[in-house]
Amino acid sequence: MPFHIHFDDTNLMARVVGPVDGLQPEEIEQTRSRAEAAVAAFAEIAEQEAPDPDKRVGFPHLPYESPAKILEYAARLRGAYDTVCLLGIGGSALGAWALDCALRGPHPVQKPPSPEHPRLIVLDNVDPTFVGAALEVMDPHRTVVLVITKAGSTAETLAAFLIVRDWLVRALGGQAAGRIAAITTDGKGDLDTLARREGYRRFGIPKNVGGRFSVLSSVGLVPAALLGLDVEKLLEGAAEMTRQCWIPDPTRNPALRSALLHGLLLKRRKKTTQVVFPYSNRLWGTAFWFRQLWAESLGKKLDRARTIVHQGQTPVAALGVTDQHSQLQLYIEGPKDKVFTFWTVRDSPDPGAIPDTRLGPEAFDYLAGQSLATLLDVERRSTEAALVEVNQPNCNFVLDRLDEEHLGAFLQLMEFQTAFTGELMNIDAFVQEGVELGKRYTYALMGRPGYDEYRQRFEDYEAKRHQP
Ligand code: PA5
Repeated sequence: MPFHIHFDDTNLMARVVGPVDGLQPEEIEQTRSRAEAAVAAFAEIAEQEAPDPDKRVGFPHLPYESPAKILEYAARLRGAYDTVCLLGIGGSALGAWALDCALRGPHPVQKPPSPEHPRLIVLDNVDPTFVGAALEVMDPHRTVVLVITKAGSTAETLAAFLIVRDWLVRALGGQAAGRIAAITTDGKGDLDTLARREGYRRFGIPKNVGGRFSVLSSVGLVPAALLGLDVEKLLEGAAEMTRQCWIPDPTRNPALRSALLHGLLLKRRKKTTQVVFPYSNRLWGTAFWFRQLWAESLGKKLDRARTIVHQGQTPVAALGVTDQHSQLQLYIEGPKDKVFTFWTVRDSPDPGAIPDTRLGPEAFDYLAGQSLATLLDVERRSTEAALVEVNQPNCNFVLDRLDEEHLGAFLQLMEFQTAFTGELMNIDAFVQEGVELGKRYTYALMGRPGYDEYRQRFEDYEAKRHQP
């Protein structure tokens, strides 16, 4: 069935939220040529074949890659595990969590783990209490371990891997290698070297696909296939969305339209925070995935002309309805520096009927006979109305259903939107020097050879802290 995703931007407009906070149709029309230019500029860096295809931006091409090897691997292992343990961080972890949560049910209320319904455990932190607790609940005889790092050297991922590998070897001896797959840049980095030496199953990450844009590469698709998701349908949805995203017309391209409007709200209305507000527990993982995508891609010190700009829009994840009772006070009465992006799913497989039982007290009886789906929808529409009343601009991405096709399309839409926003801001959305800086300090402090400069810089920092 084809997907349908609608972008409703009515509440971003000045006629609804006023001219101080909302956008005028004329200014959108006047910037239309900039939107068209953003598509052309991104096409130039994504489509070029020469001189080196590795240098182009690769995520738009992922939906057209064959998943055959991934499907064959998952089919061979199926039935032999009840847990997929993923070791990765950032872009090497969040996509798999988003897919699992959206398509197999929110954590922690999924079905109990079984070979028919394996669970996903993502060890994306090195808190020893977290890793230790995970080892206690997993059975090494029924676990597949995926170690995922594009660089092949990320300290958190490799430290957790050393622990999990040791745990597997103690239980399975020489069979352990058969339960491990390494997902990393092919032919580059220390994980690739180790995987070849120890005989792990290997899947490559294309050199031209950055971590936060890699959910539809082996990074997201290997875990998805092991969890029993329909990988081909994910790619089909993403491929169709890719076609739409190349249309250089913001009235027909939702990624471009959303990029243009969010860009204008950031630049001209100083909306420096975007609250993504899914009214769906199943989209909660996707909100965290998006947070990284938007923050790391657009938070930049330099523009393309190497001018210092310190650009970016801070993404905040809020869950509807839950965060109405924790954040909404700030959103209604606090600083007018925000734009709100709701994500809603039109059809729920189970509306959650509320029994038509009349207990007597009024606070119960008006709810009897209605449904949770109605209440959820009413709450979101009420929040939109309340935000409009105080002139806070908001918009809504509406997905008809939450299945593989819709999710594949939505993830691709968000990635294109990010790329176009980068072009409109004239920054490079595909580098992350800020993340690298933190990594280098960590390597230096943990004693990795070659990072002496950062040890010295850390000592200078400590000295500064202790100056009177
Ligand atoms: O998007 C990015 O590039 C980063 O967030 C990375 O995904 C993260 O730092 C993990 O890197 P790696 O996959 O190399 O271990």
